[in-house]
Amino acid sequence: MQPANTKQLAAERAVTYIQDGMIVGLGTGSTAAYAIKQIGARVAEENLQITAIATSQRSEDLARELNIPIVSFEDIDKIDLTIDGADEVDEQLNLIKGGGGALLREKVVATNSRELIIIVDETKLVKRLGKFPLPVEVVPFALAVVKRQLEQLGCTASLRMQNNEPYVTDNGNYILDCSFGEIQLPAQLHDAIKAITGVVDNGLFIQLAKTVISAYNDGSIQLFT
Ligand code: 5RP
Repeated sequence: MQPANTKQLAAERAVTYIQDGMIVGLGTGSTAAYAIKQIGARVAEENLQITAIATSQRSEDLARELNIPIVSFEDIDKIDLTIDGADEVDEQLNLIKGGGGALLREKVVATNSRELIIIVDETKLVKRLGKFPLPVEVVPFALAVVKRQLEQLGCTASLRMQNNEPYVTDNGNYILDCSFGEIQLPAQLHDAIKAITGVVDNGLFIQLAKTVISAYNDGSIQLFT
């Protein structure tokens, strides 16, 4: 038997929560891309009437190709529902995000959403966060000093690269991927990192996800709330 496309399964289940008239937040990454494609299919086939705000230029470009109407924060106040992926999810539904480099816009959208649904395959579910290096978005000018202060918190920090150049986010910043190992106190670590001047934000999403939809290789789906 062919293993199920778990990312697609989770994404398609999440898109069933979208109703006419909603303002929808569009996540970033391969799982979120399945959700955007499914939203595009519902817009085309069911004439679903929504507007959307994207967490990255990539996701915005994909949404526009699919004729999903895009708005910005100039046009709207609260987002009704955001669907996004994650790199890790713990048992309290805390997340590590930012593997795709979009953590800042993802957090702006998540914190301005009435509901955040996270879509993952079973490989992302962990007891404790930290196996996946924590992405930290940093102002380029402050890179060296921020790196030293992050390492004093107990990690090894490496500058994310792309094509032999530092990876630059949609906001013009760099990313330090920080290997902490198992994170015992994610909320405290989140606050300690945020307190470093020159850090823009980090990929710890503490108590922001309302629902996590996880799909399994046997084709089953489980909801965590
Ligand atoms: C992007 C993210 C993504 O949601 C996360 O990296 C998961 O990606 P994928 O769905 O491709 O596994 O946080 O910044």
